[in-house]
Amino acid sequence: MRNILIITGSPRVGGNSDLLAEAFAEGAYGGGNQVKIFPAGRKNIGGCKVCNTCFSTGKACTFDDDFNELAELLDWADGLVLATPLYWYTFTAQIKAAMDKMYSFMYTERELKIRDLFLIACAADDEDTFEGIIKSYEAIVTYLKCDDAGKLIVPGVEEKGDVTREHLDAAKTAGFTFDMSNYMTL
Ligand SMILES: Cc1cc2nc3c(=O)[nH]c(=O)nc-3n(C[C@H](O)[C@H](O)[C@H](O)COP(=O)(O)O)c2cc1C
Repeated sequence: MRNILIITGSPRVGGNSDLLAEAFAEGAYGGGNQVKIFPAGRKNIGGCKVCNTCFSTGKACTFDDDFNELAELLDWADGLVLATPLYWYTFTAQIKAAMDKMYSFMYTERELKIRDLFLIACAADDEDTFEGIIKSYEAIVTYLKCDDAGKLIVPGVEEKGDVTREHLDAAKTAGFTFDMSNYMTL
């Protein structure tokens, strides 16, 4: 059994990436894992200010915001899913702010239990538009000394609800087989 944390990046409630993340969660839960979703896209998380006082107040970030809630989940997780729409060819600013503040763990040399990462990304344009986020994601996997558990890349979705049953089934299957190394483009 795994402890899987899904961080979502969209500010849009019930949007495409939310639905994909929920389907992934359903599959992962069905596979016997514990799953928690943290909707970073709707949280209040500011950028890292590099004050380098991480954890000195007893909380991960001295500039106390919703990242400190996420920090506890990061401690709990052994698998991490980043689920984001593409904004300007990359992660949304909201999920990126959360990722930036993970610096607090690196700076204080706190060990994370996270061993596997998975990327869920959706966007209006075609497959080529994901080149940048895939490169970033793969570099992050390497930096965190994790395994790439897979990528679910969903092009051609723009309006809320554009994701299809096929997309959601693929997300559910990916969640069920979380540790399977794969690459899916729909
Ligand atoms: C600020 C902003 C930037 C976007 N940038 C891109 C982009 O670079 N490439 C793309 O294909 N779609 C882009 N989109 C479209 C979204 O990725 C697309 O609508 C996605 O399905 C939204 O996911 P959501 O429903 O989970 O919010 C952008 C949308 C917004 C609001």
